[in-house]
Amino acid sequence: MPLDYANIYPERSRRRSEIIMENLENRIENREIFKNAPRTEPERQHYFIGQCRKSVKKRSEELGRPLFFRCVTFGCQMNARDSEKLEGILEAVGYRKTDSEEADFVIYNTCTVRENANLKVYGHLGQLGKAKKKQPWMKIALCGCMMQEPQVVEKLKKSYRFVDLIFGTHNIYKFAEYLAEVLARDEMVVEIWKDTDQIVENLPVDRKYPFKSGVNIMFGCNNFCSYCIVPYVRGRERSRRPEEILTEIRRLAQDGVVEIMLLGQNVNSYGKNLEQPMTFAQLLREVAKIDGIQRIRFMTSHPKDLSDELIEVMASEPKVCRHLHLPLQSGSSRILKQMNRRYTKEQYLDLVDRIRRAIPDISLTTDIIVGFPGETEEDFQETLDVVRRVCYDSAFTFQYSKRSGTPAAAMENQVPHEEVQRHFDQLLAEVQEIAREVCRRDEHTVQEVLVEGINEHDASLVSGRLSNNILVHFPGDASMIGTLQKVYLEESRGFYYMGRLA
Ligand code: SAH
Ligand code: SF4
Ligand code: F3S
Repeated sequence: MPLDYANIYPERSRRRSEIIMENLENRIENREIFKNAPRTEPERQHYFIGQCRKSVKKRSEELGRPLFFRCVTFGCQMNARDSEKLEGILEAVGYRKTDSEEADFVIYNTCTVRENANLKVYGHLGQLGKAKKKQPWMKIALCGCMMQEPQVVEKLKKSYRFVDLIFGTHNIYKFAEYLAEVLARDEMVVEIWKDTDQIVENLPVDRKYPFKSGVNIMFGCNNFCSYCIVPYVRGRERSRRPEEILTEIRRLAQDGVVEIMLLGQNVNSYGKNLEQPMTFAQLLREVAKIDGIQRIRFMTSHPKDLSDELIEVMASEPKVCRHLHLPLQSGSSRILKQMNRRYTKEQYLDLVDRIRRAIPDISLTTDIIVGFPGETEEDFQETLDVVRRVCYDSAFTFQYSKRSGTPAAAMENQVPHEEVQRHFDQLLAEVQEIAREVCRRDEHTVQEVLVEGINEHDASLVSGRLSNNILVHFPGDASMIGTLQKVYLEESRGFYYMGRLA
């Protein structure tokens, strides 16, 4: 069917020949802008931000309205932080943020850690395809971990031709450059890198919260847990230089941030590949010296690399929050070996003992996978045993999901779905029952709460978090947002407290 260009550009309803002319001009112009671009980073990206700004302004004047973008994020804290960088660039070039899918530019930052994550993206893409039929000027971009899988990109190129831009996790810093290309021409732009050793600093970021922020301290993962796809899609471990991290945090503090979350797939191995090696515990000490920062969190800690030095810093440094996320994955030493986690049940329990001895009020949370290939009833009982002994404040429980290319996907003894479901339900019930008890440990005490916002259901209340990450709701107003308040915890309601100002 011939394309109806008048329909594709309804607001201008121009003839086809004019559109082709425009494309030709654009390509020439395109070549010019690429020829003049600086070679060094981040200067190159700042140059493309300038170029995009011109296109967005021109288009906005033609339409007589501002242009809008929507950014949808799947997956972990690292993806959330990446999305703040994408949004920072979109805002810097002149787009305005919207929650509507009928935006001029829509970007999906994807996750592929479990099959469900992928299915969600295809579901949304179906909807986007329909929206684009109604508003063909829309630009659709996909990035993130799922794009690092070659079979995904093949499928998109074949069956989702309406997507304008596809890029991966290693070249996200080049977003402004790709955006310039997409705005200048009407062809699908696809660029995926296998890996990178680049860390580009000092690009715009749009933070979701004014008072708290994630800060990447490292990228990638070298652990190759046998079920996990992250090392394949995020590449090898690379630590940011401490000066860069500390400068970023100092700037955040000046900008009103009081709580930071240091981010990495395995923060405990921070610094090993730096020119001047530094441990994570040493970095924490440096971060704690920064004025204005009142709370420091981090995630995620791999149990095999958690050092006594880190326990010591956590115990002695009041700014470090009383919370540790310590993924267990399985309580069976046999399964842990198959998972390539490199610790045993006994070593994990011993680590928990040492942490609890040094920091008695610490809250522990975890991740657990149910139904790893070959998991027997006995193995599952070992997991329940650890859950009962450690008494987690909360646990993220996952059904094992087969990720092609990982060693576990090729294991023969995959567990039948019904059995996985039965164990999963049992584990969840147990985890919740324990959490309800554990979470009330601070009832009738006064604790500091960082107020995060007005309560969603009752505008006379504000909601915030304790140092150990548990939610608290209490009477207050918007002036408290972003401040630490002393709150009397009147009543525990399972996973949260109701309180009042002390
Ligand atoms: N780097 C972190 C985890 C990142 S992925 C760590 O090592 O702890 C977050 C969680 O997803 C993991 O802890 C694991 O519990 C879960 N996960 C990863 N791959 C999975 C898979 N194939 N199936 C089910 N859950 C998985
Ligand atoms: Fe995946 Fe293991 Fe790396 Fe965590 S440590 S991201 S679970 S491979
Ligand atoms: Fe998902 Fe990638 Fe994070 S696969 S969990 S978004 S690192």
